[in-house]
Amino acid sequence: MRFEKISLWRNLMKSLAIVGAQWGDEGKGKFVHLLSERADVICRYQGGNNAGHTVVTGGKKYVFHLIPSGILKKGKICIIGNGVVVNPFALRDEIDMLKANGIDPASRLFVSDRAQLIMPYHIELDTAMEEAAGIGTTKRGIGPAYSFKYARLGIRPCDLGEKDYIDKAVMLALEEVNSSLAGRFKRKSVSKSEVMGKVREYSDILRPYTVNTSKLLSHFISRGKIIIFEGAQGVLLDVDFGSYPYVTSSNPSSGGILTGLGVSPRAVGQVLGVVKAYTTRVGGGPFPTELSDTTGEMIKKRGNEFGASTGRPRRCGWFDAVGVRHSIQVSGIDILAMTKFDVLDKLKSIKVCTHYVIDGKKTDEFPSNASVLERAVSVYEEFEGWDTTAGVKDYDTLPEAAKRYIEALERLLGIQILLLSTGPDEVDTIFRGKLAID
Ligand code: IMP
Repeated sequence: MRFEKISLWRNLMKSLAIVGAQWGDEGKGKFVHLLSERADVICRYQGGNNAGHTVVTGGKKYVFHLIPSGILKKGKICIIGNGVVVNPFALRDEIDMLKANGIDPASRLFVSDRAQLIMPYHIELDTAMEEAAGIGTTKRGIGPAYSFKYARLGIRPCDLGEKDYIDKAVMLALEEVNSSLAGRFKRKSVSKSEVMGKVREYSDILRPYTVNTSKLLSHFISRGKIIIFEGAQGVLLDVDFGSYPYVTSSNPSSGGILTGLGVSPRAVGQVLGVVKAYTTRVGGGPFPTELSDTTGEMIKKRGNEFGASTGRPRRCGWFDAVGVRHSIQVSGIDILAMTKFDVLDKLKSIKVCTHYVIDGKKTDEFPSNASVLERAVSVYEEFEGWDTTAGVKDYDTLPEAAKRYIEALERLLGIQILLLSTGPDEVDTIFRGKLAID
């Protein structure tokens, strides 16, 4: 099959954006880690420690929530951009975990001085809101931290050393916090002295890593360094383009890169979308291809579908081509990487949702409204299963039925599945061609 040639200027940009094209947990961490070998700088542009990126390498498993998984590769620069909401305690835990494994991130890990800090009261608010009537968040304070950012009540690393500024900022934030916590949720108020104690701890943790990352990254780009932009979550959880309101509070789509890092629109080269060979989602919200039967249970067990951040079981279902086509369109995805292919091994038949029927009408559009998406009935194409693909490293040696499944997905999605993952370790990967950064 022939695919449209990516325009020349995009090939010339030495960068690769890696974005999730479903509801998160697609296995981006493995590809970020694997492909960072070919890059110089790896940057996170949104989200916070709600994310969980798992990497298996050299017989060891690492889980990252904030630091780009490229940190495991020697000498690579890792940037946490201004679009990220940073919990410094979570960052410190990750740094300690790296040090315990003989990796010192000092001098190659940078945190934006403009990132928003997750304050302890954001976590309390997230928890209180979830317990009242939530959407199934990770309770890590992500939503409140972004809400405070846009209400201009946020606190950033660059604010921590400015005594008068921080005094006033904390006071203003606490008026809002306590009117919710004590007023609406009947919980204990938070005192200013409590918060100022955390501010000092935050300051000590962040000081060695905090810089103007937009300037630093522009410097690297102007020197022709190869950049990877690492997305967290997935496009279907995007606050603008996902299944709103059952979404996270940031822009996992490639659009988030520009504002989340402060780079030129021309800095984004090829966009690689990551999908699982099936679909999962954690938390509440519509899920048209969800399987509530023994096949769903089998996929959950075999795919070890439990959240890397919260341990919650993930809901499982068939591949949804409608959702992924929407992600491809809104995120400008050029090529795909497919993970967990081997989890489907041994199934008699495998289904793919090609379009929906909503209120009796056939549609291939991902609805904007969650109630409409809830009413979507999936229409499936069925494929013959295969015996085993686990650990296969060469496309040609895959079972014919597996190749038919992949090629049918490419037809339905209109772009190539360039990379295939047939096991958790980075070595279990099939490359079907070159990336633009190669
Ligand atoms: P929040 O990001 O914690 O506010 O949660 C909002 C929604 O996004 C919930 O449905 C979460 O389960 C989901 N979510 C957040 N982060 C991830 C992730 O890394 N993977 C999958 N789902 C996520």
